[in-house]
Amino acid sequence: MNQKLDKVKQNVIKCTKCELAKTRTNSVPGKGDFKSDVIFVGEAPGKNEDKNGEPFVGVAGKKLSAALEEAGMSREKVYITNIVKCRPPKNRVPKTIERETCQDYLKQEIAIIKPKLICILGNTVFNSLLGGSEIMKFRGKIVQKDNQLYFLTIHPAATIYNQKLIEVLNEDIVKLFELIKELKNDKKITIDIEYSS
Ligand code: URA
Ligand code: SF4
Repeated sequence: MNQKLDKVKQNVIKCTKCELAKTRTNSVPGKGDFKSDVIFVGEAPGKNEDKNGEPFVGVAGKKLSAALEEAGMSREKVYITNIVKCRPPKNRVPKTIERETCQDYLKQEIAIIKPKLICILGNTVFNSLLGGSEIMKFRGKIVQKDNQLYFLTIHPAATIYNQKLIEVLNEDIVKLFELIKELKNDKKITIDIEYSS
């Protein structure tokens, strides 16, 4: 375990900076390999995550794990986290104020891990990190903002009742790891969208 990351984790566990602290069972810090080339960012913990204190351990998590395996990866080799680290009541979308209050933790995770790519899982994350919308239109694309690369795909939960979307997620995750391979080999990759801030 990386000491700095462990410190972030401890701070998340005891955090009471926003309203969500009142209704959570457990905070859910990010989890995984701090040497990962990619950070997967989800929206917020759900019921199972709140109970266990770990990200993506419920049905959506199984879909994400399956997509990683399809791409020849395992979840232990990547880093997985969320925009907000505590479960919103009844799984509602996290409020802007909650996202803003929690964002320092994600910034710290990114600064420590320095991923080659940040993988955005779904619309809420797309909106929070890049101000975007319409993830179905932009999925599979690469974005550059402030010298950081992002890869856009759908939220694994969207695949639960839609078999077609499983293929979409799997295809995107395969592409993501191909891109990482190219980045590691210093190949020039094509950036689809550039954001300036
Ligand atoms: N959905 C998310 O966005 N994050 C989790 O950790 C679990 C489900
Ligand atoms: Fe703290 Fe984030 Fe949990 Fe709010 S959601 S209490 S800011 S860790």
